[in-house]
Amino acid sequence: MCGIVAYIGHRQAFPIIMKGLQRLEYRGYDSAGVALLNGDLNVYKKAGKVSDLAEFTKDKNVTGTLGMGHTRWATHGEPNDRNAHPHFSESKTFAIIHNGIIENYSPIKAELTKRGHTFNSDTDTEVLIHLIEDVYNNLHVDLEEAVRLALSEVIGAYAIVVISKKDPGKMIAARKGSPIVLGIGKDEFFVASDATPIIEYTKNVAYLNDGEVAIISDGKLTVKTIENQIKIPYVQELEMQLEMLEKGGYEHFMLKEIYEQPRSIWDSMRGRIDAKNRRLRLGGLGDYENKFINAKRVIIVACGTSWHAGLVAEYLIEDLARIPVEVEYASEFRYRNPIINEEDVVIAISQSGETADTLAAIELAKSKGATIFGVCNVVGSSIPRATHAGSYTHAGPEIGVASTKAFTAQVTVLTLLALQIARKRGTITESRFHILLNELESIPAKVEIALKSNDQIKELAERFKDARNFLYLGRGYGFPVALEGALKLKEISYIHAEGYPAAEMKHGPIALIDDQMPVVVIATKNSSYEKVVSNIQEVKARKGIIIAIVTEGDTEVRKIADFCVEIPETDELLVPLVSVIPLQLLSYHIAVMRGCNVDQPRNLAKSVTVE
Ligand code: G6P
Repeated sequence: MCGIVAYIGHRQAFPIIMKGLQRLEYRGYDSAGVALLNGDLNVYKKAGKVSDLAEFTKDKNVTGTLGMGHTRWATHGEPNDRNAHPHFSESKTFAIIHNGIIENYSPIKAELTKRGHTFNSDTDTEVLIHLIEDVYNNLHVDLEEAVRLALSEVIGAYAIVVISKKDPGKMIAARKGSPIVLGIGKDEFFVASDATPIIEYTKNVAYLNDGEVAIISDGKLTVKTIENQIKIPYVQELEMQLEMLEKGGYEHFMLKEIYEQPRSIWDSMRGRIDAKNRRLRLGGLGDYENKFINAKRVIIVACGTSWHAGLVAEYLIEDLARIPVEVEYASEFRYRNPIINEEDVVIAISQSGETADTLAAIELAKSKGATIFGVCNVVGSSIPRATHAGSYTHAGPEIGVASTKAFTAQVTVLTLLALQIARKRGTITESRFHILLNELESIPAKVEIALKSNDQIKELAERFKDARNFLYLGRGYGFPVALEGALKLKEISYIHAEGYPAAEMKHGPIALIDDQMPVVVIATKNSSYEKVVSNIQEVKARKGIIIAIVTEGDTEVRKIADFCVEIPETDELLVPLVSVIPLQLLSYHIAVMRGCNVDQPRNLAKSVTVE
């Protein structure tokens, strides 16, 4: 993870970098630092958030039109001032910022130590900048070549920016496994982990590919491979708007993103369905549609919330398209020697498009000849670039670390995918297909209604904010929603919560139930409604407190539940899109009431680019 941003041009670099770091804080917020070249090479860094760095630099010399900044999510070395980036080389002539992990840093460090280098931090990054200086001095090469040669010795993942006092008009960036976007302005350039720090200044960007190095000097950008082969950067225009990156009057990004869902769900369908004319077209399938139609099996790989969207997709694809589906945690899949065949289609789901384990799972499946389909939100990120085909979710930038609108957009796109494949395979009747398309088009309006439960949920939050544990139960399509509700609560309020299949509760969690245990149940009208009602009875018999998410007008659950939150009726297959809304709001309000940092929960990062 970690966020990097750098500037070279005619403006003062510091304000651009600080603003950029704030935008990148979702990638980590253990420490922050900047380096500025202005004759001198000044480095300022501090444990804590970007705001702590801003405070720390108040009385410092922050002039310079070339500089770089970093916000850290700690991997090697605890989050303190010493381990914060940028890191200096031995002579303090070179500085580096880095996102990723240098796996073989230890033998390199040992070798450099023998040669007289001393290190001031516990990081792998510092070793790399010492190595670059060592190569520069001993091989008498220029900065660019020193970086390339040093990188050829490195095993691991990196996105780096290197600057040097000896080359005051030059900036070198390189990428392998961690993202780098280059912003190309008029006589100025930006380098960042994603486009958010750049958007304000230019819409022209180029994404570095793995194994590429960018050299920016004399107002020119040159891209080469680490092996010194020239590459022509592909410059494209950003679609993102600046307002998408701001809170727009909401107290937190998470709340804004929860409220954006009627729009973001619609955006993920827009141009893809037309219920009136019974049309559905997921253009991203392209020539790979037949692979899906003939697939013997679909394997879904993802992490976190995206994995929950994958579970919903499993139910949808099996239900509608009748293809066997397996859903895998990407981190498990890649290390367990799975059986993958050429007839398999792998769906990789990822909001950021950068999750290291999901990327590695893709590479593994690709090497076995499977077809890979990506469902990602961040345009141009690594996963869409590594897949054969895919569909973007078009939810817009998601900044709150706890995923909300990305989940509903993923589920929407996966529903479209399941419907399209089902239709082509002839496993769905035309009338059912039409009913589901119509219903899907009505989901944004139903989510809008579900959001109206906000005040009621606030009251529930007030009542349960001090609970030590929560249980979330659901069956069928309600089960992944229960998992997602529990994850949201854990992530941002630090209350222990478990999501469980309602019936499976009898095999363990029921032992936890007493009069202190709030149990959130997805109890909407569907094929397993009666069974869920029985499960609620079982909880009540043990004095558990039931908060039920029910269909509008429900009377049966209302008789036994302690609290009921109504959501509009929808088709059983689409219930996750609506029923997750009150659960997102519940976790949000509880976290706010507990004084937690909702958008930047402790220990988490939005984009997990380490294994
Ligand atoms: C992190 C985030 C989660 C996210 C997960 C997978 O843990 O905090 O919100 O669900 O990574 O990320 P991805 O970008 O691949 O969906």
